[in-house]
Amino acid sequence: MSGQGLFIAFEGGDGAGKSTQVRLLAAALESLGREVVVTRQPGGTPLGAEIRDLVLHGNHVSPRAEALLFAADKAHHVDQLIRPAMDRGAVVVTDRYTDSSVAYQGAGRDLGAVEVHDLQMWAVDSLVPDLTVIVDISAEEGRSRRGEVHDRLESEADTFHEAIRHHFLAMAQGSPERYLVVDGTLPSDEIHAAVMGRLTSSGLLDGGAA
Ligand SMILES: Nc1ncnc2c1ncn2[C@@H]1O[C@H](COP(=O)(O)OP(=O)(O)O)[C@@H](O)[C@H]1O
Ligand SMILES: [Mg+2]
Repeated sequence: MSGQGLFIAFEGGDGAGKSTQVRLLAAALESLGREVVVTRQPGGTPLGAEIRDLVLHGNHVSPRAEALLFAADKAHHVDQLIRPAMDRGAVVVTDRYTDSSVAYQGAGRDLGAVEVHDLQMWAVDSLVPDLTVIVDISAEEGRSRRGEVHDRLESEADTFHEAIRHHFLAMAQGSPERYLVVDGTLPSDEIHAAVMGRLTSSGLLDGGAA
């Protein structure tokens, strides 16, 4: 089977519950007989893992260099992992994708969301997810869930995280047919049910079962 692949992205702030939902969705889709490829950005390939280390744990990275590093990760990731998986009919579920780069680098770091969006779209050769789920929580809730663990981006102030949150919500509002916004303070199983409900009602799960 080919051409039946599905591409689903989870976006939202640190601590929102993205990784939790990625795990729940992957298990549910596997139990429906689908091949599921779970990945994350940055870091879904060996090269991506090195880029992730450079960007998240290095010393100061200039904003444009940071945007290019994230774009380089995406370009490699889409070409080496995501497109091939979709071509053989798999469901690819990614923990962050282009919207995170646009929100963090564009809105959060004054580079210009439109510029970063255009750079990202070039990098991924215009591959847009079939569905992007925004797991929405306040900056305060995110910080309390993250506890004491910080990397360079996570230690930014709440105002930075609130700016990012509003950017995610604005992107969803601009293309409601491609987005689902879920309240990240709901119990995990309720959020998961909402995601499954949307995938079912929109027909995205039709025609791809093994
Ligand atoms: N719906 C939820 N309600 C309450 N706590 C949650 C929920 N989803 C995840 N968590 C908890 O919040 C923390 C961050 O979750 P995680 O899935 O790692 O978030 P992210 O990947 O977005 O950073 C974890 O301790 C997780 O158990
Ligand atoms: Mg996570």
